[in-house]
Parts: sequence; structure tokens; C-alpha cells
Amino acid sequence: MNIAVFCSGNGTNLEAIINSQKKGSIKADIRLVVSDTPDCFALTRAKNAGIKTLVVERKNFKTKKDFEEAILKALQKENIGLVALAGYMRILSGDFIKAYENRIINIHPALLPSFKGTQGIKDAFVYGVKVTGPTVHFVTPDMDAGPIILQSPVKVTEDDTEETLAEAVHAEEHKIYPRAIQLFVEGKLKIEGRRVRILE
Ligand code: GRF
Repeated sequence: MNIAVFCSGNGTNLEAIINSQKKGSIKADIRLVVSDTPDCFALTRAKNAGIKTLVVERKNFKTKKDFEEAILKALQKENIGLVALAGYMRILSGDFIKAYENRIINIHPALLPSFKGTQGIKDAFVYGVKVTGPTVHFVTPDMDAGPIILQSPVKVTEDDTEETLAEAVHAEEHKIYPRAIQLFVEGKLKIEGRRVRILE
């Protein structure tokens, strides 16, 4: 199976996915890294790993539809079977999601449905939760609301700052995202309504 990873930022999840693939724990081809941000570090990581990159910037297209169609065309050309969003800071339209229905997944840095949005770690910390952690989920038109594939609890200790908590959450992300991808690749994820059954 061919995978595309979408990034806008640092790309530590991309790196974790690349490493898992190199180790053989993800048995698929990371065919393409798509970004909307030409200077993001994720693109450097992709290039260092010899992975094809594609920058598609919203500002170069008149409409969101044209912008997304350019991406879809590239995905079809590479015969992509799974899109993994990894810090991609754009909301995909319903049409885009439909074109890849149940084949787009995302990682969110909080235990959904708590702390949706772009500040999941900070929001959980400020709220004072004792447990948080990342969630991998299927992408549906409602933001951060698709069926949940994997979650991993991270305890918030008395000594934690937002920064140390972020480190701990990211460390868990780097474990569960590659695992979720491999489960998908193996055809072991069965969506039943809101539930994702893991066929082990
Ligand atoms: C991660 O915290 C992820 O949960 C969120 O965006 C961040 C991306 O980090 N969706 P990175 O670019 O993979 O380092």
C-alpha cells in the first residue's frame, strides 16, 4: 500500500512513521509527503529520507476546491491508499474526505472527545486534567470527531509544565501513530458506527 503523509510543521510524527517503516514495522511505501507550508521542517525530514515531497499552497489557488483537487490529483497519480495527517494545519472539505472516505487518519494530542482543536496539550494542562494523551482517529467532516482507532494515556504529574507534558504526549504519539498505520495497512481496522474494531 502507498501512504501519503500530510504535514505543516516540525514533522516528528512523520519521522516516527519513517523510522517504523525502515524497521519493517510498517509494511507499506511512504510514497509522498504533502505540505501547505514550503519551509516546514517536515519537508526537510522527508527529503533526507528520500521521500517525494509536494508543496501545495492555498494562496496559489483561487478556490479551496481547486486547491484540494490539485492534491487529490497527486494522490491518485501515486495510487495512495492511506492519507495520514500529521500536524497538517488545514481543514479538509467534505468532498475531499469523501474522495478518500475511511482512508484518512489523524493524530490529535489529547484524549478525544476532550480538548479538540489546535491547542490540545495546552488546553488539557490549563484545565488541570490528571490524565491526557494522544488519539489516532479516522477523519470525518466534523473536526476531531471521527471514529477512534487508538489512544494512549499520559499521566500529568505534580512537576509537569506544559513543555514536559508536551514531550510526554509527543513520545506516546510516536508510538501509537505508526501502530495505527500498520493496523490499517494490514486491514485490521473495522469501522462499526462510532466504534473501530481492531481485528487482532
Ligand atoms: C502533534 O502534536 C499532533 O498531535 C498534532 O500536531 C502535532 C504535530 O507534530 N496534530 P509534528 O509536526 O508531527 O512534530
